[in-house]
Amino acid sequence: MMRNFLSVITRHWIGLLGAVIALIAVVLMLTLVAIQLTGFRGGAYLGIVTYMLLPALFAIGLVLIPIGVIRKRRIDAAAVAHHELLQPGLPVIDLNNERTRGFVIASVLVGLVSVVVLAGATHKGVQEMESVAFCGTVCHTVMEPEHTAFQRSSHSKLTCADCHIGAGADWFVKSKISGSWQMVSVALNLYPTPIPSPVHNLRPARDTCEQCHWPTKHIGDKLRVRTLFADDEANSESKTVLLMKVGGQQGTTSTGIHWHVDRGIQIRFQSDASRQNIYDVEMKGADGKVRVFKTEDKPAGPVEWRDMDCVDCHNRPSHTFNLPAPEIDSALEDGRIDRTLPFVKREGLRVLSDAKYESKEDARVGITKEIGDFYKTKYAEIAAAKAPQIAAAASALSDIYSWNVFPKMKVTWGTYKSNLGHEDAPGCMRCHDKKHADEGGKKISGSCNLCHVVLAEDEKDPEILKTLKP
Ligand code: HEC
Ligand code: HEC
Ligand code: HEC
Ligand code: HEC
Ligand code: HEC
Repeated sequence: MMRNFLSVITRHWIGLLGAVIALIAVVLMLTLVAIQLTGFRGGAYLGIVTYMLLPALFAIGLVLIPIGVIRKRRIDAAAVAHHELLQPGLPVIDLNNERTRGFVIASVLVGLVSVVVLAGATHKGVQEMESVAFCGTVCHTVMEPEHTAFQRSSHSKLTCADCHIGAGADWFVKSKISGSWQMVSVALNLYPTPIPSPVHNLRPARDTCEQCHWPTKHIGDKLRVRTLFADDEANSESKTVLLMKVGGQQGTTSTGIHWHVDRGIQIRFQSDASRQNIYDVEMKGADGKVRVFKTEDKPAGPVEWRDMDCVDCHNRPSHTFNLPAPEIDSALEDGRIDRTLPFVKREGLRVLSDAKYESKEDARVGITKEIGDFYKTKYAEIAAAKAPQIAAAASALSDIYSWNVFPKMKVTWGTYKSNLGHEDAPGCMRCHDKKHADEGGKKISGSCNLCHVVLAEDEKDPEILKTLKP
């Protein structure tokens, strides 16, 4: 039966060609999938080859087969109608003929050499595709914001795949399929700008973050000192000191921020697609009791349920985009901007905040000119005496702009907000807003000491730091 089928489909050269193409495609596809399943990470191109080009080739092969069969049938029918002898559908290769024999041997040799060359080229190409550079730069414009932020993050030694794909075969294949379509959308300019956040099909943090960070390892408190600079002439320095309660489980009781991801705790919430508006919050405690906190606010559109994990607070673990103020503060703190330049904080904020440049190169020129002009017109002496410091400040401000604003992707200050806190975005206050209450009327707490103790807020010379650093 099988033999009969094979002989029918390969009786005409078109069918034979189709069968060969389909077979090669299947073998290559299976080989590539097998290589990838052994933990080999290719990039988007490998994905395209495996999950788009080869299947397409396979389909072409499949289409050719019936065409061959029909062709052959027609030729046979015509032959029968004209009472002619049935012609063989394939060329007759006579290996007794010396020329034919030479040709066949040469073809086999050329074929073998090409296989070796192709295998080498594929190997090299695939190595290339594994790198972060590939993810971040091949679709340069598209991934530029995330790639730039990533390089400045604590995760800069990871690969994009560590969080976006993680371990295991099923997510790998999933990511390859969606990755291939992403490449097509990049090629055809179909991608949205800015790339939407949150990412709705991101792999759950259990499978990614927790490969390296153990949720119950969060213990105790952490001191956070922030240095701020005012917009007066002296750029006056002040400090905010917070004792962050970053702990989770402590013995049998659990106190602190990482309680949400403790084992035994399950929190689900209902939100709109932006995840910025949270409605019902369902919490299952270690004792198995379920409490539902509801708000008076009614959703305007469709809502979905989601299990809370790391990413609901750490939504920018590797792609943190900052606002101008904290960026300038840290540049002033570590000396990239000279703090003796009068009004440099205020002017920095001004030139960064209203800047609307077409590209980062334009921004560099514009920012340098604006800062230079300010000192030339308002502080001529300083402009002359501190020219190198002013140039350095302009350069630092231009860097800050290029790290956070990406005109081509329509990413600007505040496009991607962090949920880790309550400064840039509602963040924690999406639930801790004192509006979410359970049946008994008990609210999710918004008390200022729940998450941190504010030891000093915007103080010139806080007592607490004198105690800690006598
Ligand atoms: C430490 C983990 C981690 C690493 C490493 C990482 N990402 Fe992400 N990325 C995330 C998370 C988490 C989100 C989703 C944020 C959300 O859904 O709110 C995200 C979102 C994105 C988005 C959607 C737009 C946005 O900014 O929210 C893009 C694009 C992206 N990442 C690209 C990359 C690229 C390119 C790399 C490598 C250069 C990379 N990521 C490395 C964790 C990571
Ligand atoms: C492959 C290992 C790995 C994975 C996966 C990973 N991280 Fe990390 N993470 C690290 C390392 C290494 C550091 C740096 C530690 C340091 O600098 O002390 C770090 C630092 C951090 C920090 C503290 C520094 C900061 O930038 O605030 C946070 C928060 C964090 N990771 C969250 C996450 C989240 C959320 C995820 C999942 C989306 C994740 N990590 C996935 C390895 C990983
Ligand atoms: C999806 C809703 C939601 C978000 C977002 C959220 N929380 Fe909570 N949080 C809860 C619920 C529910 C409780 C338990 C309330 C109770 O026990 O009455 C809680 C309790 C806490 C507690 C007390 C833990 C304990 O030991 O009992 C702390 C601390 C806390 N949250 C910090 C934060 C911080 C910090 C953020 C932002 C980075 C945040 N939460 C964001 C829902 C949320
Ligand atoms: C309820 C919100 C919330 C959730 C959920 C959450 N975190 Fe955090 N995490 C925080 C906050 C807030 C901080 C403190 C940030 C700071 O330094 O001010 C923090 C700090 C951290 C740090 C740095 C701790 C240190 O001592 O420097 C790491 C690492 C981290 N989180 C990893 C994770 C991982 C992994 C998960 C998921 C298993 C997770 N977090 C879930 C809010 C959260
Ligand atoms: C649900 C948890 C939670 C509650 C409630 C909360 N905060 Fe915060 N707060 C945070 C987190 C998280 C941060 C971010 C710390 C960081 O920068 O990593 C923060 C940051 C701050 C900062 C520092 C901002 C800066 O300049 O960096 C101040 C000041 C502050 N909170 C004051 C308050 C006050 C006042 C209240 C009471 C009205 C309050 N917080 C309630 C979680 C909370």
